[in-house]
Amino acid sequence: MISKVGIIGSGVMGQGIAQVFIRNNYETTMIDISEEILENAVKNIDSGKYGFINLVRKNVITEEQENSFMKNLKTSTNYSALNRCDLVIEAVPEILSLKMKVFENIEKNTDDSTIIASNTSGIMISEISRNVKNKSRVIGMHWFNPAPIMKLIELVKTSFTSAETVNLIIELSKKLGKDPAIVKDYPGFFTTNFVQSWISESLRLYEKGIASIDDIDKMARLGFGFPMGPFELMDTIGLDTVKDIGEYLYSETGNEKDMPSYLLKEMVYSGYTGNKNIKMNSKGGWHDIKK
Ligand SMILES: NC(=O)c1ccc[n+]([C@@H]2O[C@H](COP(=O)([O-])OP(=O)(O)OC[C@H]3O[C@@H](n4cnc5c(N)ncnc54)[C@H](O)[C@@H]3O)[C@@H](O)[C@H]2O)c1
Repeated sequence: MISKVGIIGSGVMGQGIAQVFIRNNYETTMIDISEEILENAVKNIDSGKYGFINLVRKNVITEEQENSFMKNLKTSTNYSALNRCDLVIEAVPEILSLKMKVFENIEKNTDDSTIIASNTSGIMISEISRNVKNKSRVIGMHWFNPAPIMKLIELVKTSFTSAETVNLIIELSKKLGKDPAIVKDYPGFFTTNFVQSWISESLRLYEKGIASIDDIDKMARLGFGFPMGPFELMDTIGLDTVKDIGEYLYSETGNEKDMPSYLLKEMVYSGYTGNKNIKMNSKGGWHDIKK
């Protein structure tokens, strides 16, 4: 049974995932590299766009519930705080070497029965867990942004993930109000291949001058009923994350359509990494460069 959960990385996804667990009364420990980052994350979980304070304002939860949910959350800059966690979910930036190191640290600081999951958008789980000794407890748990709202969890099962691990995570996902889909370990899994093609093509057409950023987003929303357009989606995901994913997929597949465009790189290098309310030190995203 899973009752204590660790989350590594308190960025966009770590915050959303932590919020879902604490709202469902799981004891949750969030780890990051500095106290300042963790303080900002805790503040966002309570008072950010999808935070509890907004839910109190809308009468979805009471103030007592907000306080009790927040009490389920602990933070630390030390991996030893993962001690006795039944599940640890890694949500650090989409960089293979970093994720591999984080997985090794998780294994060092947990019992052999702890399930180790990655929220990677598309790096093969078998590659991230290459140095983990017990591979039966490793799984991909790919959440969607914003995690408190989106119902899907893409569960990535390697050939070595045990049936017990898969079943525990399916059961847990349902308890959290999510609806899991199972995929095999493959670069980009299903969802990231699907969405990255859409984003890359939109960027290519924008760079050709076919239409403006606003009009491309409008066409996707009003013409096809998507909840947001490709540029709005990039601002939400984080432009740096979109770039990292594209570089990884290109390195694995050699498919040129996956290669991040120079315009996307220019945005990231200039500090435009997306939704500035959530990401620290971001200058904003596509909709901010026109101002
Ligand atoms: N942003 C999205 O929409 C989205 C959606 C699904 C999956 N993902 C995936 O989730 C992961 C995280 O993405 P994000 O957007 O939350 O990134 P982010 O940049 O917002 O947050 C990453 C966090 O990890 C922390 N970190 C870095 N190194 C660390 C370490 N060694 N130990 C602990 N913490 C460390 C950073 O300080 C930062 O707070 C990535 O793999 C990404 O591909 C992102």
